[in-house]
Amino acid sequence: MKDTIAPHGGKLVNRIAEDKEREALEEKTPNFKKIKLNKREISDLEMIATGGLSPLEGFMLKKDYDSVVDMMHLSNGLSWTIPITLSATEEEVKNFKEGEDIALEDENGGEVLGILHLEEKYRYDKEKEADQVYGTLDAAHPGVAYLYQTGDILLGGKISLIKRPRHTNFMKYRLDPSETRKIFREKGWRRVVGFQTRNPIHRAHEYIQKCALEIVDGLFLHPLVGETKGDDISADIRMKSYEVILEKYYPLDRTIIGVFPAAMRYAGPKEAIFHAIIRKNYGCTHFIVGRDHAGVGNYYGTFDAHYIFDEFDPEDIGIIPLFFDHTFFCRTCGSMASYKTCPHDSSHHVTLSGTKVREMLRKGDIPPVEFTRPEVARVLIEGIRQQ
Ligand code: ADX
Repeated sequence: MKDTIAPHGGKLVNRIAEDKEREALEEKTPNFKKIKLNKREISDLEMIATGGLSPLEGFMLKKDYDSVVDMMHLSNGLSWTIPITLSATEEEVKNFKEGEDIALEDENGGEVLGILHLEEKYRYDKEKEADQVYGTLDAAHPGVAYLYQTGDILLGGKISLIKRPRHTNFMKYRLDPSETRKIFREKGWRRVVGFQTRNPIHRAHEYIQKCALEIVDGLFLHPLVGETKGDDISADIRMKSYEVILEKYYPLDRTIIGVFPAAMRYAGPKEAIFHAIIRKNYGCTHFIVGRDHAGVGNYYGTFDAHYIFDEFDPEDIGIIPLFFDHTFFCRTCGSMASYKTCPHDSSHHVTLSGTKVREMLRKGDIPPVEFTRPEVARVLIEGIRQQ
């Protein structure tokens, strides 16, 4: 069976140097100038190499960077909303020359992970990027805060991966796009819905995942495990919450879980497009976008991440977004519902603020089953105790 959906740009990028090519590069790296990557850049490097960010073959050149920031498209016309960049200080790169190969080291500087075939060094306007991509100049926004502390120079060019970053967790869930595509093919799934998340699973998540699964063949749960802001729940606890709920409440022959190595940008609508395109690269045909997708604080409207899809050519986006309204348990309906399907006002609904839930969990109290599965609550209580 052929894949039902092509990667963005038509071809799954593979920038992993193997065998002779890798040996040749490894031999030369001791002579290359070096730069250390931070956690986000390491996860971007790995995703570029494995095709998760197809059609990107490296860190963005200025023409793509400008085109993404100004027009939400790459310079070749393909939809793309988030800059994928490698930043450095002037001091770090003052001797770097365009045209030369640069060794990309892990954050401790101990290991060379890849090579940047440096095509271009350029300056960029951080405030413009903040405004256009995140919709705010506010340094309290975690995506903007990251941007403001990066170096003033960007390095652009194709990369070659010579060593996979050293991972110590989630090994069985680390599936590359070529692997998820193979799994979907082998299972005979023609229609697969992808789910992005950075939170422990709760009933609203479960409801929208299962509603989506009603109309497709398979569900691909893809929790993000790259860098998140400090007060988000750790990826370890989030993955445990998935393990306990899957075991008891999910059709395991129709559900696959893999970890998404990316860093969270908190760019709301722009990140929803980015998340959808990447899940297309992993082989998904549909993608769930609920309320305030990839949002933080009050920077975005609750459904901005739905509206933004209207600004793109659906054929170019390729993957089909499945939009969900705000969902909750309604006592009068006696079921999960949304503002679209439930006629009762919010006094009938079981809704708890994040603060209230955290307070209950800290005290060791299990929130109502209409809000979270008790198995998940127990994982969260244990996780909080160990912090
Ligand atoms: S996100 O930053 O990864 O979007 P989160 O893990 O909370 O955060 O959400 C995962 C997905 O579920 C997103 O598509 C989000 O819009 C959706 N979602 C979360 N809670 C609800 C809810 N109560 N109703 C509808 N959709 C929701």
